[in-house]
Parts: sequence; C-alpha cells; structure tokens
Amino acid sequence: MIAEHLSACKTRVEACLAAQLKQLPQGEGKLTEALSYSLNVGGKRLRPALVYSAALSLRSDFNVFPPSLTPLDLAAAAIEAIHTYSLVHDDLPAMDDDDLRRGQQTVHKQFDEATAILVGDALQAWAFELVTQIDTLPADKVVAMVKELAQASGPKGMVLGQALDIQATGVAESSDYLKQLHTLKTGALIRASLRLGAYCMNAGPKERRALSHYGDAVGLCFQVVDDILDVTADSATLGKTAGKDKEADKLTYVKLLGLEGAKAEAERLCEQARTAVADLPNPKVLLELADYICNRAN
Ligand code: IPE
Ligand code: IPE
Ligand code: MG
Ligand code: MG
Ligand code: MG
Repeated sequence: MIAEHLSACKTRVEACLAAQLKQLPQGEGKLTEALSYSLNVGGKRLRPALVYSAALSLRSDFNVFPPSLTPLDLAAAAIEAIHTYSLVHDDLPAMDDDDLRRGQQTVHKQFDEATAILVGDALQAWAFELVTQIDTLPADKVVAMVKELAQASGPKGMVLGQALDIQATGVAESSDYLKQLHTLKTGALIRASLRLGAYCMNAGPKERRALSHYGDAVGLCFQVVDDILDVTADSATLGKTAGKDKEADKLTYVKLLGLEGAKAEAERLCEQARTAVADLPNPKVLLELADYICNRAN
C-alpha cells in the first residue's frame, strides 16, 4: 500500500518537474542538460510524497491527484529541486567528494565542477520560482510558502546544518551538537515538506503543529537511518558510495550510539512521529510513511 502511494507521488512530481524543465532555455550550452540530469537520475522523491501525504492526512475524501496542476504539485516540485541542489553541492570535492549519486555519476563527474556548482545555484532559484507560480492560492499564502522554503533551506536551516556537518568532521562527539546538525541539514527540509502541504490545504494552527511535530521526528529519523545505511547497506542498493562516513570520520548517530543504539533511536523517533499525527482526520498514510522512513533499505 505505501509502496503504491510512494510510486504514485513519484510519478506525479516527475511529470510536473518534466513539464517545468521543458520551459527552461534549451540548446544554450550544458546548464539545462546538467540540470535535467541531476533531477532525472532517480531518487525516492520522499519529500514530495510528504507534501502530498500531509494534504491527504487532513481530509478523508480528498483527491490529491486531480487532472490539472495543483499548488501541491508545485510545492512538491520546489522542495525536490531544493533537495536535489543540496545533494549536488553535498557531493562536490570541497564537501563530501562523492562520485556516485542516485545510481549514476555525480553531476561534477558527469559534467564538471563549475557546472555542478551552477546546477545547484540554478535549482535553488528555480525552486522559488516554482512556488511563485502557484496562482490558485491567496498571495499571502504563497508568500508564507516562499518564507517557509527559504527558512528551511538557507542559513537558518539546511545550509547551516551542512556547515555544522563540515565543522564536525573529526571532532569529539556531542549528542546535542549531532542532534542540531542532523535536524538542520536534513530535518529542516522534511519538516518544510509537511508544512508546505499544510499551507496548500489551508490547515489550522493545531493541524500545522501536529504536522510540524511529525516532520521534526521523521526528519531526524530519516538522517539517523541514513547514518545506519552508510554502514549496513552496499553502494548498489544505496545508489551512492557506502562507508563514506567512516572513511571521512563524520560525526554520525552510529559513531555516537553504535549501530544498535542508532537503530533504537530511529525507532523511538518513528513512534514519536506516529503519535504526533494520530488524531488527524486521515493519518493512515503518514503513519505508514513513518514506518517506511524508519525501516527503509535505501
Ligand atoms: C539523501 O536524501 C541525503 C540526505 C538528506 C540524507 P535521500 O535519501 O532522500 O536521497 P534521494 O532523493 O532518494 O536520492
Ligand atoms: C546530506 O547528508 C544532507 C544534505 C544533502 C543536505 P549526507 O552527506 O549524509 O547525505 P548523503 O549520505 O551523501 O546522501
Ligand atoms: Mg554531507
Ligand atoms: Mg554526503
Ligand atoms: Mg549520509
């Protein structure tokens, strides 16, 4: 059931991304080609699925995939664009220096480093443009969504988390520091995915709070599991190089708590997420998604 839902969300957001990509200048050098490459080489599309699933959780009889383009589609495409930019830059030689991403060569390997930097820059600006294309919600809602995405991705969110991650390499472990860096580098965009879904549905403060708490818990859970998979899975399954964290002496949950401790922490966070949304009108998909995030194989 959750596999079909994830697959439907993936198909939907990929169609939206493809249609939007077509509107970019073609045949003007390699930027658009590299941008399409970064977006088209797979990816679980989990953050878009969280946008759609937040919306589904708020009403029992809601058609999340009508024939026409919706605010949810543009929000889902925007968050995937920001996430993809974060991966392209995360893989650069000056950051994690990775060759493999989503089962393909990283953008700087396939093209070159300057192009990878520009792809990230382009994806970031483009994401905000996508949100501003929402024309069926009041303008103040759209501004609130732009702010949500900016705060989650910029110097108060993902980018700050990435900076803390780089600074943490090789340093003595501290659980508060690690929690903060994981919450920012990965949790912030996951939390924003749920909140963007809530904005599209005009959710009230109580529902927004429940979805935010869920986002905080699954966001951290997602990165704890990412740390675990770096140790337990192989590169073919992950579509990225396994064992990188140890090699680079990264501060991770496995380093801090050991493998079993990290698994227990992921389960605790999953339960916390499930509790946060249990009273929403239609929580089934979010409950299953929390389990998927905790138990995923890649
Ligand atoms: C990988 O994210 C980077 C992290 C934030 C841990 P995903 O595991 O969601 O990557 P894709 O989008 O499926 O490739
Ligand atoms: C990446 O964390 C987080 C962001 C890209 C913002 P990691 O460096 O652990 O992600 P992977 O393991 O390379 O996907
Ligand atoms: Mg990294
Ligand atoms: Mg990395
Ligand atoms: Mg990782």
